[in-house]
Amino acid sequence: MIVNKILEIHDVKREFVMGDQIVRALKGVSFDVNAGEFLTIMGSSGSGKTTLLNMLGCLDKPTEGIYMLDNVNIKDLSRDELARLRNTKIGFVFQAYNLLPRTTALENVELPLMYNPAIGAKERKDRAIAALEAVKLGDRFDHTPNQLSGGQQQRVAIARALVNEPVMILADEATGNLDTRTSYEIMSLMQDLNQNGKTIVFVTHEPDIAAFSSRTVMLKDGRVVKDTQNTKRRSASEALAGLPVSDDY
Ligand SMILES: Nc1ncnc2c1ncn2[C@@H]1O[C@H](COP(=O)(O)OP(=O)(O)OP(=O)(O)O)[C@@H](O)[C@H]1O
Ligand SMILES: [Mg+2]
Repeated sequence: MIVNKILEIHDVKREFVMGDQIVRALKGVSFDVNAGEFLTIMGSSGSGKTTLLNMLGCLDKPTEGIYMLDNVNIKDLSRDELARLRNTKIGFVFQAYNLLPRTTALENVELPLMYNPAIGAKERKDRAIAALEAVKLGDRFDHTPNQLSGGQQQRVAIARALVNEPVMILADEATGNLDTRTSYEIMSLMQDLNQNGKTIVFVTHEPDIAAFSSRTVMLKDGRVVKDTQNTKRRSASEALAGLPVSDDY
């Protein structure tokens, strides 16, 4: 079987210079992610999760070490090429949703396509509609973020991440602001996307969220201390069905 590696990082380090002090956020991290994996990155606050995810998403470059994204060494890319790679290959989902206020769900989802001159207005709209329908928000096109619940806003953000048909979804604490039920709904959606072939890297510090993924990389103080396959992967839709009704409050 040919295994398609979506990303490879080798001995990656990231240091931040703060005045006369150097913060070593990543101290030599190595692992590969294959196409179709659903990986969670865990670790306590300050362990380097966001630093690592930002690097995987080409928002940042390593100080040292190698990062190959879809067989391209990102070190060789210019700023423009990096931005293009990020736009076409990666969909981001953040804890705080990061939607534009006073802008409808549909327009928020259309946004990443604006940078692609090959896509006209009609196709842009059609694709945004399809992405919103895929996250079950077909009845909320014209709602602005303040007219949507937290879980719905996160689903708009996921539709926005999907609209460019990226090879990989990167999520940083995407359930961090949500209650248990809504978190499980988001994880159920992530599991569906993964089932349909999307590679997912999901940062969380909650073990019950990590249990929905197929593999967990544990960071501690800028290093990988554990990298394990989840043999007892939970189904989020089953977990949802098992929640007591009172959890809604
Ligand atoms: N831009 C920066 N400049 C200086 N130091 C930074 C910067 N970004 C992160 N750090 C430091 O790097 C370390 C790792 O931070 P990071 O944000 O990756 O942690 P995290 O695991 O995501 O934590 P949390 O769970 O709280 O989000 C921390 O000590 C942090 O202070
Ligand atoms: Mg973080």
